[in-house]
Amino acid sequence: MAGSEKKLTAKLVLPEGKEVPLPVTVGTEDEHAIDIRSLRQDTGYITLDTGYMNTGSTTSAITYLDGEQGILRYRGYPIEELAEKSNFVETAYLLINGQLPTVAEREVFGRMLTRHSLIHEDMHQFFAGYPPTSHPMAVLSAMVTSLSAYYPDSLDRNSSMDLHITRLLSKVRTIAAFSYKKSIGQPLIYPKNSLNYCANFLHMMFAVPSEDYEVSPILEKALNQLLILHADHEQNCSTSTVRMVGSSGANLYASIAAGILALWGPLHGGANQAVIEMLEEIKTSGTDYKKFLDDVKNKRDNRRLMGFGHRVYKNFDPRAKILKKMCDEVLTYLGVKDPLLDIAKSMEEVALKDDYFVSKKLYPNVDFYSGIIYRALGIPTNMFTVMFALGRLPGWIAHWKEMVDDKDTKIGRPRQIYTGERVRKYVPIDQR
Ligand code: CMC
Repeated sequence: MAGSEKKLTAKLVLPEGKEVPLPVTVGTEDEHAIDIRSLRQDTGYITLDTGYMNTGSTTSAITYLDGEQGILRYRGYPIEELAEKSNFVETAYLLINGQLPTVAEREVFGRMLTRHSLIHEDMHQFFAGYPPTSHPMAVLSAMVTSLSAYYPDSLDRNSSMDLHITRLLSKVRTIAAFSYKKSIGQPLIYPKNSLNYCANFLHMMFAVPSEDYEVSPILEKALNQLLILHADHEQNCSTSTVRMVGSSGANLYASIAAGILALWGPLHGGANQAVIEMLEEIKTSGTDYKKFLDDVKNKRDNRRLMGFGHRVYKNFDPRAKILKKMCDEVLTYLGVKDPLLDIAKSMEEVALKDDYFVSKKLYPNVDFYSGIIYRALGIPTNMFTVMFALGRLPGWIAHWKEMVDDKDTKIGRPRQIYTGERVRKYVPIDQR
């Protein structure tokens, strides 16, 4: 798809004066990349790019993101339109297969997801083995790795990946709900085939055997939208991890488990939990939020305004815009008055006018308001990153599949510039 027919060339002048022509690759949205694939072989030089701020690790046809304009599209469809008109299962299908499903395809996909929702009964013992204080991300990642033990044919890349993909999408939802039930000491609630994907998840989370549980259509819609907004974000930390691990030939479950672990960090998916903890801290300590912002600006205790800033969005995060609106709608519907929302809105208002945040182009990201909605839905704080993982799953799978299907894929193996000692002689311990 890349418009390589333009055949642009860049020129690199090396310190010794040699000029090196380098081909330029142009994407469908006119993004330009200098292709350095033959650089080391031709010149002996490598490039150094800590944090990969300027490095394209792959070409990809899944998600388009323009951080300056605040644009996010899955397979060409704007995120705003998908959040309004699609649902999570359809969006997952789109990301993984490249096209929106027909009625028949949607029906088959939905049926497959319903059919594969149970996990092996023996896996229930795993939940019993974890202490009640376990972070659900630890449980989720271990459980996803364990799925490869129950489906050993996943180790063979020639086996039907469609089946493993469906299993994963369906079972991660069950595992997430079971880990929550285990943490609060309630009986596990099995999936119910009559319910759609998101309704089924809410049912497994909040139903108890002693009572009927009606899934609210408003909450089901909110969950669909939340998961759609998280479903992909091109080559972010966790997705790059999935690709990197998968590039070694590791199976789908192992690659996704690695992505779950990368997501856990507070600078990535763990930020939604960190935002609520930050707002709670401000509320319970009675600290003025302006004093907190002052600490952030002065980098006291390395504080950051969690839920603000993004590696690629330097104008606004389109997901945050949708979430702020959704936050108001969901809380109004539920009749919830959350003081954390008031603090968050006040902090956003002040930060967006403050030179520190403006000059560094720091805006609310997807995690700033999502936690407040999850709280209103009754989801506990330590489950927020699990919710992010549930949403990001189709994106990880789509990238894993794209990587596996690409004949140009190579094992991910960056180079380095060594800064340690030069060769020296071993000194026996009695002479040191
Ligand atoms: N609060 C205060 N200062 C910040 C923040 C923040 N949230 N984010 C960046 N900065 C400052 C940072 O201190 C640095 O200042 P200086 O130039 O004086 O050293 C400058 O802005 C650039 O920061 P950086 O860490 O080099 O920027 P980055 O692109 O590597 O980091 C980020 C992106 C998301 C890790 C960062 O903005 C951050 O830590 N945000 C808070 C955590 C967060 O909300 N993460 C969720 C991201 S969205 C969900 C996802 O996709 O993962």
